[in-house]
Parts: sequence; C-alpha cells; structure tokens
Amino acid sequence: MSCSRARRLSTRKVAFDLLLSYHIKGLEISPRAKGETALNSQPKLNLLLSRQEIQATIDRLASELNRDYHGQNPILIGVLKGSFMFMANLIQLLNFPIEVEFVRLSSYGGGKESSGKIKVVQGLQAPIKGRDIVVIEDIVDTGLTISFLLDYLCRKKPASLRLCALTDKPSRRQVPVTIDYLGFTVPDKFIVGYGLDWDEKFRNLPDIYYVELED
Ligand code: PRP
Repeated sequence: MSCSRARRLSTRKVAFDLLLSYHIKGLEISPRAKGETALNSQPKLNLLLSRQEIQATIDRLASELNRDYHGQNPILIGVLKGSFMFMANLIQLLNFPIEVEFVRLSSYGGGKESSGKIKVVQGLQAPIKGRDIVVIEDIVDTGLTISFLLDYLCRKKPASLRLCALTDKPSRRQVPVTIDYLGFTVPDKFIVGYGLDWDEKFRNLPDIYYVELED
C-alpha cells in the first residue's frame, strides 16, 4: 500500500462486564459494573479491557501481519512511549523477518488533555526509503500525532506505509486517519494501562482501564 491509504473502520465492541477489584499503590481499581466507591480524592480506574482480551487481540493482529507480510522484511516503527508494551508483545508473534525502530513524539501536556501540538522528542534514526513500514501505535485519539508522523514518514519515500494501532477513539478525531490493523475501538474516556499513561502513571498495568475522577 502506498502513502494514500484506504479507510478502514472497525465496529468492534468493547466489553464492560469483567469483574475484578484490587488495589495498586493505594488506588482503587474496580470494574464499572460493580460501581464501587473510590478512595477519597483518588482517580478510580475502571477495567475496560482485560489482559486476556488484549492478548487475544494481539494474536489476531499478529495473524493479520503474518498473512500480509509473508516473505517480506518490513521495518516496524514504534511510537514511544505508549506503544512499548504493545510492540514488545506483538513482535514476538511475527514469523517473518523484521527490523525495529522507534520514534518518540509527544502530544499531551502533564495531564489528561492533549496540548494539540506535536513534538518530535526522538526522530527516526534509520533510512526507510524504499522499505515497507508498519507504524505501531497504542492509541489514535484526535489523530494529530499519527497524521503528523505519517506525513513525516511519507516524505522519506517508503515503499509502503501502514498503521497498526491497539486502540482507536474515533469519537475524538480531528483529522481523518486510516488504521490498517486495529485492535479495539474504545469509548470517549481517558484510558490507561498497557503502556498508556495518565501524567506518566499507570503504564505498567497489564490491563486497560478508564479513569474517573471523584469530585
Ligand atoms: C499518546 C499516544 C499517541 C497519541 C495519540 O501519546 O501514545 O501517540 O497520544 O493522541 P492524538 O491522536 O490525540 O494525537 P502521548 O503524546 O501521550 O505520549 P506518550 O506515548 O509518551 O504517552
């Protein structure tokens, strides 16, 4: 596929009915369905996607990539920091030769809201001209970060350029984005865990939660 990519929509519905409740570093983490009260003035984390659901979805994405890149040698470019856990688990399931690169971009300020300005914190080190490229993202939200990155990569004239995203939040989109390999469509809530942060916290959680702030 060239730099003009066909639009692909996913209608995958996320599950909300998983039951789990425990404490990490003094924060109450509980499923939305149980409706439990959070500790005073702490963000409440509600389970959205369990580690089992995430793993099953990564298995599916790896199968799609194994089908499409059989006999090829693409470069997978992870977008730091958020994609590190997704990337690490995905690439272990690929059965074709790959190279791994990272770029580090930043769009959020120190909190829940995007600043809307994209900063290149660490640019691409390897040449990609004439190569097949798969960008690995943890989330497409407004689309500003990935649009910026895809434009940046297109200017380097890769042979093909595709996007693989673990999660997509289409309700917040400001610019159109085509996701070639999509894990989950998520609701308009701030999500954390599995690499995703809230003010640099919660990246290490093995499941994905949405944040609720108590008044
Ligand atoms: C997050 C996420 C995406 C981007 C998506 O990165 O990892 O790269 O925001 O948002 P957008 O679609 O609204 O542009 P962030 O800037 O928070 O940096 P991080 O990956 O280091 O957490």
